[in-house]
Amino acid sequence: MAGDERRLSRRGFLAAGGAALLGAVVAGSAGLAAPGPDSGLLTDFWLFGRYADGCTDAGFDEAGLDPVQLPHCVAPLSWTGWDPASWQDRWIYRKHFTATTAGRYRARFDGVMTNAAVYLNGTFVASHDGGYLPFEVELPGVAEGDNTLAVVVDGRWALDVPPNLPGASPAVLDFYQPAGIYRPATIGTVPRTRITDVFACPVDVLSPGRSLHVRCELERAVPAEVTASVRQAGRELARGSASMPAGGTAVELDVRGLDGVRLWDVADPALCDVVVTVRAGAAVLDRRTVRTGFREARFTPDGFFLNGRRLKLFGLNRHQWYPFAGGAMPDRVQRRDAEILRRELNCTMVRCSHYPQSSAFLDACDELGLLVWEEIPGWGHVGDDAWQRRNLQDVAAMVVRDRNHPSVVVWGTRVNEANGTTAMYAKTGRLAKQLDPSRPTSGALASTTGARYAGGDVEILAYNDYTARRGAPFRLRPPQPGVPYLVTEAIGTLAGVRAYRRTDPPATRQLQAELHAKAHDLAAADDRYCGLLAWCAFDYPSGWQRSVGGSKFAGVADIFRIAKPAAAFYASQGPPDVRAVAEPGFDWDFTAQPAGPGRGATIWSNCDRLAVFLDDRPVGDARSRRADFPHLPHPPFAVDLVVPRGQRPQLRIDGYAGGRLVVSRRFSGDRSRDVLGCTPDDPSLRADGGDATRVVIAATDRFGTVRAGTTGAVSVALAGLGELIGDAKLDFGATGGAAAVWVRPFAGPPGTLVLTARHDTLGTATATITTTATGKTAGTGS
Ligand code: GAL
Repeated sequence: MAGDERRLSRRGFLAAGGAALLGAVVAGSAGLAAPGPDSGLLTDFWLFGRYADGCTDAGFDEAGLDPVQLPHCVAPLSWTGWDPASWQDRWIYRKHFTATTAGRYRARFDGVMTNAAVYLNGTFVASHDGGYLPFEVELPGVAEGDNTLAVVVDGRWALDVPPNLPGASPAVLDFYQPAGIYRPATIGTVPRTRITDVFACPVDVLSPGRSLHVRCELERAVPAEVTASVRQAGRELARGSASMPAGGTAVELDVRGLDGVRLWDVADPALCDVVVTVRAGAAVLDRRTVRTGFREARFTPDGFFLNGRRLKLFGLNRHQWYPFAGGAMPDRVQRRDAEILRRELNCTMVRCSHYPQSSAFLDACDELGLLVWEEIPGWGHVGDDAWQRRNLQDVAAMVVRDRNHPSVVVWGTRVNEANGTTAMYAKTGRLAKQLDPSRPTSGALASTTGARYAGGDVEILAYNDYTARRGAPFRLRPPQPGVPYLVTEAIGTLAGVRAYRRTDPPATRQLQAELHAKAHDLAAADDRYCGLLAWCAFDYPSGWQRSVGGSKFAGVADIFRIAKPAAAFYASQGPPDVRAVAEPGFDWDFTAQPAGPGRGATIWSNCDRLAVFLDDRPVGDARSRRADFPHLPHPPFAVDLVVPRGQRPQLRIDGYAGGRLVVSRRFSGDRSRDVLGCTPDDPSLRADGGDATRVVIAATDRFGTVRAGTTGAVSVALAGLGELIGDAKLDFGATGGAAAVWVRPFAGPPGTLVLTARHDTLGTATATITTTATGKTAGTGS
């Protein structure tokens, strides 16, 4: 079982000298605004176990606790078949730290599922409800020398906190939420006069007279001068300043002279730093840097416009869940999802369904030019009064946390698909508007009747369009006149079959790709659709209807983030000069299909022409399917591939764009030459306990294409000072010939991690990852 393996590897770590880190020194850096990225990360070395009487006491006997690193999930999980009973309990995390300087300490928790109570040296400090938003705690009792932080984590479904619904079963929600301190935590010293918030809001972005409106809040009233310096590409563009009004704790100022700023756009996500400094005379009281970008995002009844240019929003919904770890994956792994969506799947927008997601993910969206729909936690139902009050707190916490992200262009202030309860939505919408007048509010609906728009509850009509049914021609509801209209979901597993697994027949997987292509084609056909965000990016764990064995297989990639043919459709919609794509929607495998894929087999491609060869003999050009997809930038191609029985030729596809050969792909029909691959996303990681990378373990043909029909067991072992986040045995028959695990170095000396994967018939493959304090050395995969 994965959990046992992990415990063993931790023991290995202790034996290797990791115990010395138990008393790790937290270097509080004086002058920090609030514990943020610059503060000490509370990553390693926590002690963890089930809640017990006295477990928050300073002198609690910790012999029964396990050492763990943050982010952390309380329950051992596999990649499917999660059992909510395994995390629904109370848990204790304890961290010993040594304060090296006297001072004022605060800690920040980016996300604890679901409720948390924090104790310092045995004394209760603060508690927080809700698993998707950060909280900070003042630690007045930190003494120079040894201290103990204890956090009680409550992961029970019975908590009356969105999206939970006490009284119903956890399966009433379409996603599982394993408990734990599952996002980063930081600790640091803060100054006596602290900046509590900076909101930097670009104004009049498209005019040369554009400005930046800055609101800076201090924790207490002091006479002070506040300066905001706007910098881009390392250069100051302009600055503004204002005096704190007498007796006030907030100041607003405008920075002008920003005509030279580079705008933020999906194709050129140019960011700015805004450095806010609070001074009393010559003394700097506090300083904080926030990041923003200048862009104008407008949803109109005639479509969406970014910086005055029409942009058809092309995207997917993302759930934050991973195999083996729940939501508890370090920042690098969170960022990787944004890279997949933007760079590999060409999305211009992602919907964070159905809760605020990790800050690392949103930072990556800013950097990559991926627009974001962000929404409050909730799914399908609204709870009682207390629950609704928490909903309002979530709106405030979400907007305040994320209003500086240029990628975020809309606040979802309604609970997903919970129509009605208009009084509450008037309040949530109003609150978001007060805190951020610059963005529209909305909420995804399951029905376009029964809600008020434009001037009412929401400013964008967002519809989860599952009109299409199996067998009927695919269609979308028409946009509604007079209101900006966005399709926030479509397809999923409602318009076709119940699951799209990589183990399903090629025709099933290709059906999913066709449906996604059709939905986007229809959205592209009518300017009034702002765009379409399909359901969904990655498979996710769920006990709700149409789940299979505890998972929903609605992703265009699986839960390991391994592509299905539907991902090939997305990949093929980008420009060929950036990445030329020629990806079959079929398997080139004669085991299940002795005569090959047959007539009219689809190839997803952004090329102008595809020339097809069998054993390097031309069989002609593939036919464009433009007639089926009149509005897609790059329609797929069809080709007849009927192979005489007994033959297993090699397939070659040459793709041409602008008359030039831009891609040539080969696919082997000969399974006897298949190999096992073991490929890390990152060859080098930081040995700080808070870093990790995925390693894809796949059976491929000799040219590197996953052989989805491969069965058999793969055993996985990690050597070196790190943790294997993954099952020690993977069943290729269940995962579709490929899967992934994640590798996470312990905090400690730099070194090497070697992951070895062994398959019954394909042999052994290894991945070598170097771990370093500076992240400079390279590694290899084979
Ligand atoms: C929608 C819902 C999504 C997901 C989908 C299932 O109604 O908003 O969260 O459950 O159905 O395909």
